[in-house]
Amino acid sequence: MRTRVLAGNWKMNFGPAEALAYFAELEKQLASPQAPASNVRRVIFAPAYALGSEIQKAAARTRVDLGAQNVHWEEKGAFTGELSGAALESIGIGWALIAHSERRQIFGETDETAAKRLKRALSLGLDIIYCVGETLYEREAGRTETVLARQIDAFLAVLHGAVPTGSAVVCVAYEPVWAIGTGKTATPGQAQEAHAFLRKKAAASLGAGEAERLPLLYGGSVTAENAAALLAESDIDGVLVGGASLKPDQFARILET
Ligand code: PGA
Repeated sequence: MRTRVLAGNWKMNFGPAEALAYFAELEKQLASPQAPASNVRRVIFAPAYALGSEIQKAAARTRVDLGAQNVHWEEKGAFTGELSGAALESIGIGWALIAHSERRQIFGETDETAAKRLKRALSLGLDIIYCVGETLYEREAGRTETVLARQIDAFLAVLHGAVPTGSAVVCVAYEPVWAIGTGKTATPGQAQEAHAFLRKKAAASLGAGEAERLPLLYGGSVTAENAAALLAESDIDGVLVGGASLKPDQFARILET
């Protein structure tokens, strides 16, 4: 059974006090406090200053794990502004988001640096969401598959031969850049087409069995209204939610989809 992942990305929103208030409200909003099905994981990628133990406990009451929005390829050193995976683990953080399009577009993340981050996160046994996705310009130029192929190849080159054997969940999130924060969601059909392409690429590199087990998430203007239709597609195994994850009532509805 493929793992399903329902993820939120707070980006640079919410400090520690707001994070605590958020989880208290999320707990109220969730109709059923019971554990989700055994193949479902829930995570929120919070800013680094909102990952402390008190917030982890509040999140755990809603059956949500906390994750870091980035992880560096070295354990420590002269890397101002970066996050050490080992240090994250030492404070109980088990998830890392890698290569989000804002890191790629605004902060110059490349396939090469993203692959190095992935390698480190894998070696630490972190649960990982690795993002790929084309820009509007690339889609309109008919280059969606070329871009996705380049990005997923960087991911697969690291994963090849290093497929996590433990309980770590390693996922790819397809997030078309034109759909992020724009209110313009990919249709379930467009998303399914991209996901099927990514799974085919994974099968060619990792073999059909591993590719079948690889969770593929969709992200880009996911809301409580459109999540169910996206998740109904055969190759969409989860969602990565930005804006709507900032509203506990909305995110509660997505978690219960
Ligand atoms: P959005 O963001 O849901 O606000 O479009 C998604 C993301 O950036 O992961």
